[in-house]
Amino acid sequence: MIERIIVLGGKGGVGKSSISAATAVLLSKLLPNKKILLISFDIAHNLSDLLDQKIGNEATPVTSNLWAIEPDPNIYAKEYTKDLVIKMKALMKQMPLIGMIPQIEKYIDTTFTSDSIPLALKNAMFFQKILDAEDKFSQDIQFDIIVADFPPTGNMVALFEIPEDQVKVVLKYSLNFYNSIKGTIRNFSKMFSQILKPFENPEKRIELSKDVFNMIVDLEKRGERISELIHSVGSLRLVSIAEKPSFEEVKRARDLTKKYINLDAVHINMLTPDPKHCNFCKQMRQIQLKFSEEIKKEFKNLKIWESDKLFEEPLGIDGLRKLAYEIYGDITADEILNPKI
Ligand SMILES: Nc1ncnc2c1ncn2[C@@H]1O[C@H](COP(=O)(O)OP(=O)(O)O)[C@@H](O)[C@H]1O
Ligand SMILES: [Mg+2]
Repeated sequence: MIERIIVLGGKGGVGKSSISAATAVLLSKLLPNKKILLISFDIAHNLSDLLDQKIGNEATPVTSNLWAIEPDPNIYAKEYTKDLVIKMKALMKQMPLIGMIPQIEKYIDTTFTSDSIPLALKNAMFFQKILDAEDKFSQDIQFDIIVADFPPTGNMVALFEIPEDQVKVVLKYSLNFYNSIKGTIRNFSKMFSQILKPFENPEKRIELSKDVFNMIVDLEKRGERISELIHSVGSLRLVSIAEKPSFEEVKRARDLTKKYINLDAVHINMLTPDPKHCNFCKQMRQIQLKFSEEIKKEFKNLKIWESDKLFEEPLGIDGLRKLAYEIYGDITADEILNPKI
């Protein structure tokens, strides 16, 4: 059972991936009996660099209770469209006129392709696969906690708009398909209207249309299941640096994701450290702390985690542990999972 889904969002370059990985690494240490998954929906994947090991498109073990995935959304979209193509072909073959069209298989093959699914939706489909235990393509491992590194706001919202979108895509497919064969059907009708009657098999056809219809209904149901799951165990954390553009992005992300997921905390990352004998650093830090106050004012009901820019890039498990310590200090798992002010 998934107990918590922590989603990290914010502008590019602010530290979303690093904080996601650091959080997952710390949780795996604090909760040795829980199975934790770190997943990145960042198009420019960098979990392999962050964790300093090759992370594949299936759950790759990192520690004894931590796995990571850099999903290849095309793989899932291909599995899905393959299924749809098989069902559509069977159905169309049974249609009195359409089944006679010689190019029908080609039409189906070229319409229902994974290439025609937008990337954001492919990602959403993959996200569902991870979250939905009932999915037939689902993982073997049942994770307890998922930490998801999300893309910046536009694509982030697309990932949450899961339910309606998939159904829309299937319907759009069908319309495209119908449009592409409309003319041919018309010609065929004229030529064969008399001789076709004996070839019809209405019962088989009804069965097959039910199959395709059920695929759409399944999608809808699954969308509802996942929306409920995200509403009940999802926790969004937005990451910003102490500068205006990323602050603006965080406010936008808050507004656009409100209806999908609960915002629990804000990270203010990469504050300039204040070593001795560096007046420039001191000044930078002062400016940033002032800006930080603005962010805190805006999100005054939320947990705020501030973290300095480390002198070394936080890479590898040790680097990520250091970053986690910089962010959270000595903290309990519960305080990470359920942030309180
Ligand atoms: N607190 C930090 N201290 C030092 N370097 C950091 C810190 N947070 C992030 N970085 C570095 O900043 C860069 C951008 O971080 P990344 O996590 O990839 O951001 P995002 O996923 O938001 O694009 C990376 O090189 C990362 O190692
Ligand atoms: Mg990233």
